[in-house]
Amino acid sequence: MSIHKTARKITTHVLQAMKAKNEKIAMLTAYDYSIAKLVDQAGIDVILVGDSAANVMAGYDTTLPLTLDEIIYHAKSVMRAVEKALVVVDLPFGTYQGNSKHALDSAIRIMKETGAHAVKLEGGAEVKESVIRILSAGIPVMGHLGLMPQSIHKFGTYVVRAKEEEEANQLKKDAKLLEELGCFALVLEKIPAKLAEEVSQSIKIPVIGIGAGGGVDGQVLVIHDMLGLTQEFSPRFLRRYHDLASEIKGAVSAYVKDVRSQDFPNEKEQY
Ligand code: KIV
Repeated sequence: MSIHKTARKITTHVLQAMKAKNEKIAMLTAYDYSIAKLVDQAGIDVILVGDSAANVMAGYDTTLPLTLDEIIYHAKSVMRAVEKALVVVDLPFGTYQGNSKHALDSAIRIMKETGAHAVKLEGGAEVKESVIRILSAGIPVMGHLGLMPQSIHKFGTYVVRAKEEEEANQLKKDAKLLEELGCFALVLEKIPAKLAEEVSQSIKIPVIGIGAGGGVDGQVLVIHDMLGLTQEFSPRFLRRYHDLASEIKGAVSAYVKDVRSQDFPNEKEQY
């Protein structure tokens, strides 16, 4: 029987059991109460309160400006809505790289103030001490390798990562390290599908891909992208399930027309 029929709430253990049973994991981002409620009701396994909020909610060019207070605000809104999904919250840039004590303080604030279930951070060996310290407090950690948007100024572009052997080998080592440290899952962003599949088969924890092909244990997309709310962003890996931008613009222009023509409100729409 599918794990979904038996489990009431998705936990990190449920995700690991899903990998063991070869059941694929579906993950999406959400940043607010209303969308999180719909996403949860529609049966998503994992909701990521991603630092992509910096782009799609706040309009910044990169994820770097998002603060801990801001992600906590988004995560609290999401947690008020969610009944079943596992909620993972991104540690924003600058809240965990400096030293492991700072990383733990940031993760504790997220867990205490939002009630979320886990945190996610970007990096491998370079964030080892932070991962160890957060895990030692009993906080589940999801890793994130490949394209790491918080390092955009180091990479210089958002192109596919780890195409060359040296970077691919480092990524494989980092994935193994994150598993050994005790991370419960790993996101692989924008890397060759073959490499992602190899990593997924080499470790026991679930690997969730974004632009990493179908050979991994689950998929994640930014909800604004898959619903067609973001218009300028169309990487090859993105499947749009809707064209909300056109729908919203159509609805708003109809409203503007009705207000101007005094068609709205009509007799039945007033007291
Ligand atoms: O912040 C985010 O939305 C993410 C996903 C792209 C995995 O980290």
